[in-house]
Parts: sequence; structure tokens; C-alpha cells
Amino acid sequence: MSLPLVTVVGAGQVGATTAHLLALKGLADVVLIDIVEGLAEGKALDMTQAAPIEGWRGSVRGSTDYGAMAGSRLVVITAGLARKPGMSREELLAANAQIVGPIAERIAASASEALIIVVTNPLDVMVALTLARSGFDRRRVMGMAGVLDSARLRAFIAERLGVAPSEVEAMVLGSHGDLMVPVARSITVKGNPVTAQVSASDLEQLFQRTRDGGAEVVKLLKQGSAFYAPASGVVEMAVALLKDTHATLPVCAWLEGEYGLRDVCIGVPAQLGAKGIERIVELDLTPSERQALTAAAGQVREGIKSLSLTPKAAMG
Ligand code: APR
Repeated sequence: MSLPLVTVVGAGQVGATTAHLLALKGLADVVLIDIVEGLAEGKALDMTQAAPIEGWRGSVRGSTDYGAMAGSRLVVITAGLARKPGMSREELLAANAQIVGPIAERIAASASEALIIVVTNPLDVMVALTLARSGFDRRRVMGMAGVLDSARLRAFIAERLGVAPSEVEAMVLGSHGDLMVPVARSITVKGNPVTAQVSASDLEQLFQRTRDGGAEVVKLLKQGSAFYAPASGVVEMAVALLKDTHATLPVCAWLEGEYGLRDVCIGVPAQLGAKGIERIVELDLTPSERQALTAAAGQVREGIKSLSLTPKAAMG
């Protein structure tokens, strides 16, 4: 049986790690694209040389040519700049919009049937931009952040309680950054509510560590930002899309009235399958969680406004 084709745009830390995981897990034939001459080709060649040892059957190809994404079932956008010291949020947004906007147009031209997962930050605004510039239906464009934020929280809770990370379930919604919204009621440990095992103040500390999860890694690395967990987050979403599992995962999606919000991209639980977002799942939120989600949406809306994306354009 042939494997689906997945293109990863940006062969940096997140992109190359994503490509490697997709290949290792035998999920796809992978095309890696980067503007830096030789970077994607070199990393793809290196991965190809690991295939005999690891025994994966897919191929990994590198290119500087966007045309190489033709026929992709899924395109992952990781191209972009990392925030440099002294760079404001707005400056990062403007710089990455210059990179992501044209890539979205190239995807529409070369891989018009593809689903898109956006990873480039600031995530929520980049998803709105990708929707607008690709002209794709909102079901086909989503951002990866909630899976990562949820995984970070799950890891911290598992560490605190001394249980296996996979035995902790959690759902983190909202915006990727300070305005993420952990849903306390969604958190279970071995199937039992976390609230019975961790005090409210301890839980709040774990939430804060999750909000700072990316910054904690950056501080240690001193150069660059997290990539192992972000790549795993992309692959969890890719599995649901490529294998049509109908799994419900927190993803950044364009809302049209769900959670009382519209004309904005924000992290919400969504059921994923071969056609993309099958359904946005509306959790029963507490008033303060709902308020936090609305506040996060307000901030994202400001970013969308700064790029002059009209809602109509955003829905193609
Ligand atoms: N087309 C293709 N590749 C591009 C383009 C472009 N127009 N512009 C930049 N790139 C490539 C760079 O050459 C680089 O190889 O994107 C890659 C980015 O890689 P890194 O700098 O290593 O960044 P990474 O850590 O992978 O993060 C990428 O994901 O998590 C987010 O905040 C993070 O926005 C950032 C993105």
C-alpha cells in the first residue's frame, strides 16, 4: 500500500524533527522544503541513510522548490523566524506573515487538495493568515498548539504525581501563549479527576509552568526554541488526519459561532479525520474559563486586524 505524501515547509528544528518522526513511524512519504539552498536536501539525505537501520519504508526528499509539494495530502508549515531578543510580538507577527502568506498561496497553487497544519508563531494569527491566503475551507486549515500545551501540562502533572505521562489526560484551549486556557475539569489521572489528587493551588502552579513551558526551554537552550515536543504534537494531529481516526484533539481553528465566538482562530477541541476538522466539540466551560477564552480571542482578533484580513477573505 502506498503511503500518503506529507510536505513539511521549513527544514529547521521543528520541520526536520517532524519529518524524521513521520518517516520513523512509517506514516508518510515526506517532502521537506526550505529556502536555504541544500538544507532540506541535506537533512533528507541524512534521514534516508538512516532508513536501512530503522527499517522505515517511506521516502524523504528535500527541495527548495515549492512545486515538490504537488500531490500532498497534508502540508505542515514550520517556516519562519524565531523571536529574537528585543523583538516585539508585533514585529515577529509582521516578519512571519511575510513568510507564511506566500507559502499559503504556493500550497493553494501546488497542493490544492491538501490539509494544512500551521506551526509558525504567533500561531493563532498565522492560521487566520493561512486560511485567507490559501482560500481553503476552514475545515482544512488548523494550527498546532493545544496538543503541545496539553502535553506539557500532562508531563508536569505526571512528574508531580509519579505516574506514567500517558495516564494523564488534559485539554488546554485558548491562545498559544500567556492566554492559554487549561480546562481543569478535563484533567484526569488514570481516569480519575485530577482535582481529587492535586490541590487547587498546586494545580495553578502547574498551569503557570505550562504557560511558561516554551520560555523555560528557550532559557535553557539559550539559542532556538522547543522542537521535540512541538514535532510530536504535529505528528499526533497528522495521525488523526492521515488515518481518519476521528480523534478529538485541541487545535487552533477558525470559529463561526462556536463557544460564542466568530471571525477568529483559537484553540478548541476538534474531531479530526481525513477531511480535516469534522466537528468542533463544545465543552461545558466554567464562567471563568469562558471569559479567559473570550479574552484570548480578543487578543488574536487584534493580530488578525493588524494584517488587514477581512473575515470574508479569511473564509476564502
Ligand atoms: N520557505 C521555506 N522555508 C523558510 C522560509 C520560506 N519562505 N523562510 C524561512 N524558512 C526556513 C528557515 O530557513 C529555517 O530553516 O524556516 C526554518 C525555520 O527553522 P528554525 O529557525 O530552526 O525554527 P524552528 O525552531 O523550527 O521553529 C519554526 O515553529 O514553533 C514555531 O516559533 C516557532 O515560528 C517558529 C517555527
